[in-house]
Amino acid sequence: MNIINGKKIAQNLRNDIAAKVKTLNRAPGLAVILVGDDPASAVYVRNKDNACKEVGFYSEKINKPGDITQQELLDEVVRLNNDDKIDGILVQLPLPDHLDANLVIETISPEKDVDGFHSENIGKLMQNKPYLRPCTPKGVMTMLATTGIDLVGKDCVVVGASNIVGRPMAMELLNARATVTICNSKTTGLSSKLKNADIVVAAVGIPKMIQGDWIKPGAIVIDVGINRLDSGKLVGDVDFDAASTNAAWMTPVPGGVGPMTIATLLENTLTAYQNRK
Ligand code: GUN
Repeated sequence: MNIINGKKIAQNLRNDIAAKVKTLNRAPGLAVILVGDDPASAVYVRNKDNACKEVGFYSEKINKPGDITQQELLDEVVRLNNDDKIDGILVQLPLPDHLDANLVIETISPEKDVDGFHSENIGKLMQNKPYLRPCTPKGVMTMLATTGIDLVGKDCVVVGASNIVGRPMAMELLNARATVTICNSKTTGLSSKLKNADIVVAAVGIPKMIQGDWIKPGAIVIDVGINRLDSGKLVGDVDFDAASTNAAWMTPVPGGVGPMTIATLLENTLTAYQNRK
């Protein structure tokens, strides 16, 4: 079994971006808004900010109190839409319950929507005319490309149908002319759906839900799940050790998809910069 080393692929991507930034006369700018003090979200936002610094981007980390009003948050997004130093805007999700995440996303200018979550960007991805593409699925496509395996006609099963990962992931694979089945945590007979899968993308958020003997010999297994067990250990949605006896390629957790999401966010911010110029 070959490991798809997301950490290394992400580092290469950041090195390429840093080299490009040196040739620009203005640093690309990313604004990340964090509402409230969810510790996991705070870690993600800090990692994004550090990644910006590493590649020479201008970055603004904006912390807002958990009781911010809907209007105050929308006003902040509009301010950033009109700020010429800022090429990309990201509002860390999930938001507190009293805020409408969809309204916030739709208020971000589609040209600055580096998450690729605005309906205009999702619509373009569905039409196979992508503009800004959601970071995690796009990062997975970059990882798949490193295997050198042609995706055309391959049987892919995406487990998980979230707006952030599962749905755009399925579209990415379809755009690459693969055959795609979208499952979710309630799918009956999941093991029989996986039996013929050349490529499995797991994004359900249930620790070790996908068992090793469900994986077809020679398959590529991409594990987007990051689940913390009571012991403190991080595990994916796939039983890694058992699956590794069948799979030809696998992403580890941690050090797989996670670092790719952030590197791809930087890639999207550079794209947004180039498109705005
Ligand atoms: N929360 C978990 N993943 C993401 C992501 O990709 N973007 C944003 N904005 N929030 C998230």
